[in-house]
Amino acid sequence: MEVYISHDEIVEMAKRIAGEINDKFNGKNPLLVCVLKGAAAFHAELVKHIDIDVELEYIQASSYEGTKSTGVVVLKKDLDTDIYGRDVILVEDIVDTGLTMSTARAELAQRHPRSLTFVTMLDKPSRRVVEFTPDYVGRTIDDLFVFGFGLDVDEKYRHLKDICVFKEHKH
Ligand code: IMP
Repeated sequence: MEVYISHDEIVEMAKRIAGEINDKFNGKNPLLVCVLKGAAAFHAELVKHIDIDVELEYIQASSYEGTKSTGVVVLKKDLDTDIYGRDVILVEDIVDTGLTMSTARAELAQRHPRSLTFVTMLDKPSRRVVEFTPDYVGRTIDDLFVFGFGLDVDEKYRHLKDICVFKEHKH
């Protein structure tokens, strides 16, 4: 394997997005929702650079096995908080086909939050099967399978501090 995006670069991505959240949501006490498990590392990094009042929440929407999406998305763990009238910011690790985030958007919109904002550490727009455009993107990448900093390969490698690729997948 080799490093594709270094830890330092990930921290810079988190700082930039946190800065935008600080400016936009000051005084609004938004819910900063981590989409488990993949976004746990980026959500935690983002939170370090947030200097406004926020509440932290966790959901799990899962369907991904191995290196190919199964196309079926389920909410395995729901929010603990009523989001009616709240500003909700979903933090995802990577948007690939867009199925997970478009399912989450449809589900959460029914609960009438004041606003829904989507943050993703990485975006693979070339892989979309449904329309979905995140509001804040750490970095756009090509159609590559990446892992580390929360992202897994069959539950392995989430703990790596950098985002990595398998060498044969890079070119
Ligand atoms: P989507 O529903 O196809 O957009 O997929 C979103 C989920 O697939 C992400 O939250 C990841 O868990 C997983 N995923 C997509 N691409 C990758 C990748 O390159 N590495 C690891 N997981 C990925």
